Amino acid sequence: MKMYKYLTFITVLVLVCNGSADILNFSGGDKSNYTFPKEFFFGVSTAAIQIEGAWNEDGKTESIWDHLIHTNPDFVRDRSNPDVAADSYHLYKRDAEMVHELGVDIYRFSISWPRILPTGLANEVNPLGILYYKNLINELVKYNITPMVTIYHWDLPQKLQDIGGWTNAHIVDYYTDYANVLFANFADKVKYWVTFNEPMQTCLEGYGGTYRAPALDRHGIAEYLCTHNLLKAHASAYHLFDQQYRPTYGGKIGMSLDSNWAEPKANTSKDKAAAELYLQTHVGWYAHPVYSAEGNYPPDLIRLVDEKSRQQNYTRSRLPKFSPEEVVYIRGTADFFGLNHYTTYMLSMADGEVGKIPSHENDIGIVRVQDASWPSMSSSSWLKVVPFGFRRLLRWITKEYNNVPIIVTENGYADFSGVHDDARVSYYSHYLNALLHAIHEDNSSVIGYFAWSLMDNFEWDDGYVSRFGLYLVDFKSPNKTRTAKDSARLYASVVSSRGLPADYDPEDFTAFSAASKLVPTVLPVLPLLPLYRLIL
Ligand SMILES: *[C@@H]1O[C@H](CO)[C@@H](O)[C@H](O)[C@H]1NC(C)=O
Ligand SMILES: *[C@@H]1O[C@H](CO)[C@@H](O)[C@H](O)[C@H]1NC(C)=O
Ligand SMILES: *[C@@H]1O[C@H](CO)[C@@H](O)[C@H](O)[C@H]1NC(C)=O
Ligand SMILES: *[C@@H]1O[C@H](CO)[C@@H](O)[C@H](O)[C@H]1NC(C)=O
Ligand SMILES: *[C@@H]1O[C@H](CO)[C@@H](O)[C@H](O)[C@H]1NC(C)=O
Repeated sequence: MKMYKYLTFITVLVLVCNGSADILNFSGGDKSNYTFPKEFFFGVSTAAIQIEGAWNEDGKTESIWDHLIHTNPDFVRDRSNPDVAADSYHLYKRDAEMVHELGVDIYRFSISWPRILPTGLANEVNPLGILYYKNLINELVKYNITPMVTIYHWDLPQKLQDIGGWTNAHIVDYYTDYANVLFANFADKVKYWVTFNEPMQTCLEGYGGTYRAPALDRHGIAEYLCTHNLLKAHASAYHLFDQQYRPTYGGKIGMSLDSNWAEPKANTSKDKAAAELYLQTHVGWYAHPVYSAEGNYPPDLIRLVDEKSRQQNYTRSRLPKFSPEEVVYIRGTADFFGLNHYTTYMLSMADGEVGKIPSHENDIGIVRVQDASWPSMSSSSWLKVVPFGFRRLLRWITKEYNNVPIIVTENGYADFSGVHDDARVSYYSHYLNALLHAIHEDNSSVIGYFAWSLMDNFEWDDGYVSRFGLYLVDFKSPNKTRTAKDSARLYASVVSSRGLPADYDPEDFTAFSAASKLVPTVLPVLPLLPLYRLIL
C-alpha cells in the first residue's frame, strides 16, 4: 500500500490554508442507521514481503525489494529490512486465527514470485514455496475463510529485474507462466484473484521514480513501457484463467488500483478540469484500457504524451500504443474493480512546466496539494483524513466504468504504534460511514471491503515506523507476538452488526489531534533523509 509520501512531502511545503475548516465538510455523511447489505463481504489484506520474512529460506531468492534494501539500507526510514518482518512464514497459523477472530469472510494475501519460482521462470517450481501457501490456504479454509490471492504485490524476482523487469516485453510470458503455476496449484480453493496490486506504484514510482523498487528513475520513458507490458500481462493472465481454470473451478479475477480522490482546488472550471485530468491520467491510465467501454489508454493521456514527445523532438511518442487487436484483448478483462484508497488531494492546472523533463508529471501538467486544515496526524504525512473523498471516488468509478462491481481491497490508517489506537478507530468509522452513504445514497456499486492491514508490517520505505495493523506486532519479541488493537474490536463489531456502533458521531474528528501526542519510536530527522528521496 501507500502512496506518494515524498511527493506529498514536497507539497507540504506549499500547503494551502483556507482558514478554519468546517469539519462537516470532511464527513462522509450524516448520522444514519444504514447497514451493509446481506451479500456485502468484509476482509483484511496483507502482502507477502511485508509480513512473511524468511527472505532466503527454503529456496526463496531475492526480490527487487530485498535487493534494493540489502544494497541500499538508507532507503528505509529506520534502516530496517523485511528479512524477518512479522515472520508469517512460520506464524501463518496465528495469522489465520486472527482473521477468524475478526469474523471476516475473506483474507487477501499475496504470493511471493521468487518463493514459487526461484529463477523467476517456470523451469523450476519450488515445492516448499507451494507447500507454504497450501498450508496457509488450508488453514483459512478450516475457519471457513475464503482466500483471495494477489498474484503480484511488488516483489519481482531480482533475476528478472536483471534482464529489464517490467520494461522487458518478454515479461508478459514470464508473468503468465507464473500465474499459471498459481492457478494450477491453488485455483481449487482460491476464489478471488488479483493480478496486480497498485501497478501505478510499480511503474510510475519504481521505474519512473525512486520511491519504489527498483528505483530506476527513468522518468518519461520507463513508466510508460512498464505500464504497457503490465497491462498486457494482466490481460494474458485473465484470459488464461477464464479459458483454462474458471470452467473447472469458478472464481473471480480483477486488478487492484490505487487512487486518491481529486478535488478541484478552487471552484473554477479550470480546476475542475485539472481534477478530472488527474483521475483520467492516474487511475484511468490503468483502468481505462480494462474497464471502459472503448478500451485503450485515456484519450487525454495519449494526446498529452504524444504532444510533449513531439515538442521534445522524439522521433516517436514516448507512450507506446496498443494495436486495435490489443485494445480488444485487454478490454473487459476483469470481473471486479479492486480499489485501494487512503486519502484526497486538491488539483489545479500547472503554471508552466512541472516535474522532471520528460516525465509523466511533466506530460500531464497539473499540481496537487492537500489542505492544511484536513485532519491527519498520521505517521504517514500524506494520509489526510477526508471521508467525503472516498464517497466521491466510489461514485466517480461507478459512473465512469459503467457500474462495475467495486471491491475496496485496501483502506486504512497509519500511526506510530500502540493498542489503544483511537485515531484508527475513528478513521475506519468515518470511512465506513462514507461507504454506507455511497452504497445507500449514491448507488455506488461496492460489493466488498478490506481493511489494510491485518497486522503491523514492513511498511516499505517507512520500515517499522509506520503502523497500519488491526493487530499490533511486537517486532522485538522472538515470537513476533500479535495483540488485537481497539481498531480490531471496532472492525469485528462492524462485521458482526453490519453497521456502525450506536455512539458513532460523524462530526467528531478529535481523535486525530490526540494522535499527535504519540511520538514515533524513530524520529524522522529531515537532514538524515537521503537526497534521492526528496528530489522525486
Ligand atoms: C436510528 O435508530 C435509533 C434506535 O433504533 C433511533 O432512535 C433513531 O431515530 C434512528 N435514526 C435514524 C436517522 O433513523
Ligand atoms: C461553484 O460555482 C458555481 C457557479 O460558479 C456555484 O453555483 C456553486 O454554488 C459553487 N459551489 C461552491 C461549493 O462554492
Ligand atoms: C526541437 O527542434 C527544433 C528544431 O530544430 C528546435 O527549435 C527546438 O528547440 C527543439 N526542441 C527541444 C525541446 O529541444
Ligand atoms: C439510486 O437508485 C434509486 C433506485 O434505482 C433511484 O431512485 C435514485 O435516484 C438513485 N440515486 C442516485 C443518486 O443515483
Ligand atoms: C514462543 O512460542 C513458542 C512456541 O509456541 C513457545 O514455546 C514459547 O514459549 C514462546 N516464547 C515467548 C517468549 O513467548
